[in-house]
Amino acid sequence: MEIFSSSSLNDCEIIQLPMINNRAGNITAINNQIEIPFETKRIYYLYDVPGGAERGGHAHKALKQLLVAGSGSFEIELNDGITTKTIHLNRPNVGLLIVPGIWRELKNFSSGAICIVLASELYNTDDYIRDIHEFKKIKHDS
Ligand code: TYD
Repeated sequence: MEIFSSSSLNDCEIIQLPMINNRAGNITAINNQIEIPFETKRIYYLYDVPGGAERGGHAHKALKQLLVAGSGSFEIELNDGITTKTIHLNRPNVGLLIVPGIWRELKNFSSGAICIVLASELYNTDDYIRDIHEFKKIKHDS
């Protein structure tokens, strides 16, 4: 839990991803340990998110993630227990790295938005902290 406790919003970063473009469109490739500082074990994506819906509302103990707006746009509200910041993603060649110990909420999905998530670990319910009070307690007590 050490990284969980000590992480801050400064550890989350916007990562510019390469874009190979020509008249027939664009390609963005994300390579383990090259564009992103972890090995991807899982990819999932959020789509068909109804207008006004909010997702997330949790922190992870060990999971690192890269979020990319594969299509459309959405906002991610980040909270490290002290500071909050809102990031707007709207380009497939821009990723947001979220480290362990950061509370996140995803909101304001545009119609047709796709949120692609590259994750450093397989799905594990034990890695989630879903109670904001528990989250703040762990962050503040350490
Ligand atoms: P959850 O992580 O709570 O979604 P969000 O934070 O976006 O609201 O997951 C919602 C459901 O999907 C939950 O029943 C678990 C399931 N799920 C998986 O089975 N595998 C996964 O990799 C993810 C991310 C979720």
